[in-house]
Amino acid sequence: MSAATSRRVKISPSLMCADLLALGADVDELVGLGADYLHLDIMDGHYVPNLTLGTDLVRRLAARYTTPLDIHLMVDDPDRWAPVFAECGGGGSPLPPVISIHPETTWHPARTLAALAQSGAVPAIAIDPAQQPAAFEYLLEITGLVLVMTVNPGYAGQTLVPWTLRTVEWLAAARERLGLDYEIEVDGNVSWDNVPRMVGAGADVLVAGTSSLFDPSMSRAEAFAKLRAML
Ligand code: DX5
Ligand code: ZN
Repeated sequence: MSAATSRRVKISPSLMCADLLALGADVDELVGLGADYLHLDIMDGHYVPNLTLGTDLVRRLAARYTTPLDIHLMVDDPDRWAPVFAECGGGGSPLPPVISIHPETTWHPARTLAALAQSGAVPAIAIDPAQQPAAFEYLLEITGLVLVMTVNPGYAGQTLVPWTLRTVEWLAAARERLGLDYEIEVDGNVSWDNVPRMVGAGADVLVAGTSSLFDPSMSRAEAFAKLRAML
């Protein structure tokens, strides 16, 4: 059986889309429902024109939950921030945090990824819609997860950039061709309409935000069950 037919698709709720005024209760529910990861968007106001979550929240989550953290660094100095988040995202989980960097933000991404692996995190790369995935082929060997940005980084509630599905397809084919086992994650407008196309293209981790899991027209439990039933 090929990896494409045997894989189990995972759900990574995007916590910037959760109820920030009742975050503990919201995350308790998401973990109870069976979230596979907790997705944390870290923005610095430079690489992306927004600010979101930070170190103290990551530290508290890592101490309270065993669900692995999926930390997405949208920052223009990942060599400064990757070690900080590897430290504060470690917590008590037996599963290490996944930490993704945008490789075009550092001169030597292979060095940044090696340092992440050395610190015990799962090294990951995040690919902007404008980036050709083939440019990062050599990094795939030292990468545990590839995050494909399916919208432009920075904000929830945007519309899919359609050609990013080709990036997902390319990564799935490269995984077969190279005999690697990285996970392929999609981040941005993972909506009820887009999920089948994304999974069909090869995605195996879904960052679930305002377009699915945090859909205001249904409860978290209903949305989670609806998403699981589609996978
Ligand atoms: C952007 C964020 C968003 C968000 C996803 O950098 O990662 O993509 O969490 O949520 P929606 O479904 O609103 O695109
Ligand atoms: Zn993200």
